[in-house]
Amino acid sequence: MTTIRELSKHSDEIVTLKGWVYNSRSSKGLHFLELRDGTGLCQCIVSAEEVSQDLFEAAGTLKQESSLEISGKVVKDDRSVGGYELHATDLKIHQVAEDYPITPKDHGVEFLMENRHLWLRSQRQWAAMQVRNTIQFSIHQFFQNEGFIQMDAPVFTGNAAEGTTTLFETDYFEEKAYLTQSGQLYAEAMAMAHGKVYTFGPTFRAEKSKTRRHLTEFWMIEPEMAFYDLEMNMNLAEKMLKFILNSVLDKHERELEILERDTTYLQKAAAEPFKKISYTDAVEQLKSDETAEMLDKMEKERKTELEEIKSEEKEIKKEHGSAKKWRKAQIDERIKEIHARISQIEEDLRNIPEWKTSAANFEWGNDFGGSDETILTMQYDTPVMVHRYPSAVKAFYMKRDPEDEDLALALDVLAPEGYGEIIGGSEREERLEVLEKRIKEHDLPREAFNWYLDLRKYGSVPHSGYGLGLERSVAWICGLSHVRETIPFPRMLGRLRP
Ligand code: 4AD
Repeated sequence: MTTIRELSKHSDEIVTLKGWVYNSRSSKGLHFLELRDGTGLCQCIVSAEEVSQDLFEAAGTLKQESSLEISGKVVKDDRSVGGYELHATDLKIHQVAEDYPITPKDHGVEFLMENRHLWLRSQRQWAAMQVRNTIQFSIHQFFQNEGFIQMDAPVFTGNAAEGTTTLFETDYFEEKAYLTQSGQLYAEAMAMAHGKVYTFGPTFRAEKSKTRRHLTEFWMIEPEMAFYDLEMNMNLAEKMLKFILNSVLDKHERELEILERDTTYLQKAAAEPFKKISYTDAVEQLKSDETAEMLDKMEKERKTELEEIKSEEKEIKKEHGSAKKWRKAQIDERIKEIHARISQIEEDLRNIPEWKTSAANFEWGNDFGGSDETILTMQYDTPVMVHRYPSAVKAFYMKRDPEDEDLALALDVLAPEGYGEIIGGSEREERLEVLEKRIKEHDLPREAFNWYLDLRKYGSVPHSGYGLGLERSVAWICGLSHVRETIPFPRMLGRLRP
């Protein structure tokens, strides 16, 4: 058996492919089966002259998602997807699928989410999952190359790490337990044993917010390093992101094309140094005249684009009635794109006035909301590292800035093009008395943290770490507008199935 990805090594040979029909059409003695096998797409041509009459007729019954094995000659054809076609000499049908629910028409996202188990087979979803896999693999490669060891933090925990409002509570043999929000506290313990460690695991937050950035179950990668300060922490985060980007850019030209991802910004981020700005400067920028002007300009541009795109839709709809079959398909495809773009523009136009008010009225001391991050990152080509946040809005374990007690030595990495926060981290408070005080101030149960405080009693050292959100990173790198498409089976408010 050969895979579609390997076809270039088998030009002019007879091979067998196994897969599913992605699309099919027939014309004068020929059936064109577009086959997908999990590695790519290949057009297979079944000709009445090359196969028996029975096989030819059977091939004509194959609808979308029917499964089969098909043998034939590999022929180079530059116009074909993937650059090769298969001229069939034999085929074996596994199953003829009838009425596959996801057709090339525009279904709407709720329907697709209900059929997530099938939607995963479509090209864009396939491409996003291929990129996700490379991101995961490259993260392991990066940390292993840098001398880290992977550690697995528990999923059942007795502590809150990131505030008590987003805990999923569960019953642990009549004791209260929580699904972990973060493996950080455990990673700190392991860092004191191994120096440099990272977690790679699922984390859970009972987020009641229905936004394009929030899942209730997401995967987080949390490196933790003994003897690292904030600056070293930031530099590591930048180096890691560049490594991930280069891995994806090297390997996934085709997938990024399927996702229609403009890779200019990804390339810039992979090559150019990231900007580092303090929270205080970021607030000033948010409230500046330039920001207000940028939003005005954006609003105007969106309105013009909306008019243009709507009149294009009208024109091609008129053409549809009398168009040839191939052109109809092309128009259907374009209409789908237009609808997606219109809903994006309409969402922007709804948001912009809110963004303007929120930016202008932003007060020093608040945490950035999603829209503030969107606005800030729209003004940069590469990820931005925002450091030194007001300590009042940050977690209990963050060390304060020795030069200004009101600031925490925190960092957030905001992805450009409006994507916003993908990394949150900090230098940790390493002094026992100070940490005890913070636990009290945050109203956290002291007993649950006894073990954590031990780390400050026995050989405490300066240390730092951060958490990278996998799904938000996939969304940014793939250019997806919502995290629901970044994980095979997303869990979010109102979505537990399939
Ligand atoms: O900023 P957060 O809350 O940081 C922590 O959990 C720290 N303990 C990390 C550390 O220092 N070891 O979350 C880190 C990242 C965010 O930047 C975001 O990318 C992701 O986790 N994240 C979410 N992703 C999807 N859905 C959610 N509800 C998320 N909440 C956080």
